[in-house]
Amino acid sequence: MGFEFLTVIFEVMSEKVNVTAPVENNTFKKVISHAKEYGFVFPSSEIYDGLQAVYDYGQTGVELKNNIKNLWWKTMTQLNDNIVGIDASIFMHPATWKASGHVDGFNDPMIDNKDSKKRYRADVLIEDRAAEYEAKGDKKKGDELVKKMARLLEASDLKGVHDLIVEEKIICPVSGTSNWTEVRQFNLMFSTQVGSVAEESNTIYLRPETAQGIFVNFLNVQKTGRMKIPFGIAQIGKAFRNEIVARQFTFRMREFEQMEMQFFIRPGEEMKWYKHWKEMRMKWHQALGIPVKKLRFHDHEKLAHYANAAVDIEYEFPFGFKEIEGIHSRTNFDLTQHEKFSKKKLQFFDNDLNENGKPFGNYVPYVVETSVGADRCFLAVLCNAFTEETVGEGEEKKERVYLKLHPALAPVKAAIFPLVKKDGLPEKAKKIFDDLKLDFNVIFEERDAIGKRYTRQDLIGTPFCIVVDYQTMEDETVTIRQRDSMEQSRVPITELSAIIGESVSFKTIFEKL
Ligand code: GAP
Repeated sequence: MGFEFLTVIFEVMSEKVNVTAPVENNTFKKVISHAKEYGFVFPSSEIYDGLQAVYDYGQTGVELKNNIKNLWWKTMTQLNDNIVGIDASIFMHPATWKASGHVDGFNDPMIDNKDSKKRYRADVLIEDRAAEYEAKGDKKKGDELVKKMARLLEASDLKGVHDLIVEEKIICPVSGTSNWTEVRQFNLMFSTQVGSVAEESNTIYLRPETAQGIFVNFLNVQKTGRMKIPFGIAQIGKAFRNEIVARQFTFRMREFEQMEMQFFIRPGEEMKWYKHWKEMRMKWHQALGIPVKKLRFHDHEKLAHYANAAVDIEYEFPFGFKEIEGIHSRTNFDLTQHEKFSKKKLQFFDNDLNENGKPFGNYVPYVVETSVGADRCFLAVLCNAFTEETVGEGEEKKERVYLKLHPALAPVKAAIFPLVKKDGLPEKAKKIFDDLKLDFNVIFEERDAIGKRYTRQDLIGTPFCIVVDYQTMEDETVTIRQRDSMEQSRVPITELSAIIGESVSFKTIFEKL
């Protein structure tokens, strides 16, 4: 396998050379503690002090994440009549990963400090140094350093990377020394054994990307679904990578979820589709409520021999612009590799006529891939929604924190409160709750003062709070409070379902695509 392959693995599978601030800033710390405090994300197995780079989604987090995943799924499979979904297994035949190149090339360069025994990603150490140059106002020096490192990695010159770390006088933050080991390549795939006998032949991997489950099912789906090119296969599922550096919360995890779509096309049409998907995916992130200025494209500078184009969509996290999605024009590399290794034809007979009036005939389709991390998308949505405001005047002035989530993504759509716990108000509120819960995820809450109840909902991003008061008992109206403006209005109970329904519908997002 030539170094071009390694290059593409670096380009497509790992974080791109991208200068970011090395330290997590205050806003990000606030987002992390908010996520923990209000049931969005917990460290995994926390009672045992957690497991590095592994996180659990709590009661509000799972709702938000499911809404993001459902939205993506419906965007792909419902809005596009030529895209269908699958759910492939995490375990795959080990030959899959030989064919895809992951066994030989899915590596990160690592280095250990001999004194602290701590392990680092060599490229991240250098990127952090570059970020320091940039922070000190010398962006040019930082960029040059990153480029130099990229050249060394492309040439598989690990000694050169080691020497660069030494030249830059980079020290281990734990031991404070520069007593480094050599740089080695570290395969990111987790492996395990099938059956009871631990032999090499029984080794299987936890998939590092969901895409291969789509490639190996290409013909199954094409034939059984009578799909005609161009068509896409979408999938959401877990992926696993033994990341050396675990930091920035759920940004880089060892177990994470991907939402990937492989779009199978005619050879020669890849640039048209690449452009199409690039635009569509950017629009999708914007439609979720992420401001245009917080998103940008980052083209991959160096492409492998079979990649026509590759770009990341980056979101400006509190710790800098970072990749949330990759769009890759992958030619026919993966299907061709699987043909070679499986000795099965993975081709399509295209009977449409070309410009010479002849059928296009048999070919291995080209692929444009869109690949977005569900967890990174979740984190971007959460960071974007986290809002601190000063409200009120004079003595009334106070700080307000709330999540300005798109209502279609909010974990809870409405909270129903009786003003007081007597005179039939709780029963009336419960009746409204029972009706609304047939359509929406709503909650009923009667404890504490009304102000506190509003605050609790603001903190998890609930777009509506509905209050049943004495007037309700007379005229069947309630007050409805909007999360962002805190404005309250009086509406008939019979209109609640339509008001909430219109606001939380995915349609409001689909219409922007
Ligand atoms: N099939 C192509 C592929 O896997 P990638 O750029 O390595 O490409 C795609 O990954 C997306 O998966 C990234 O844009 C990111 O959102 C997400 N992702 C990758 N590694 C991740 C990790 N360690 N933790 C969380 N999300 C990750």
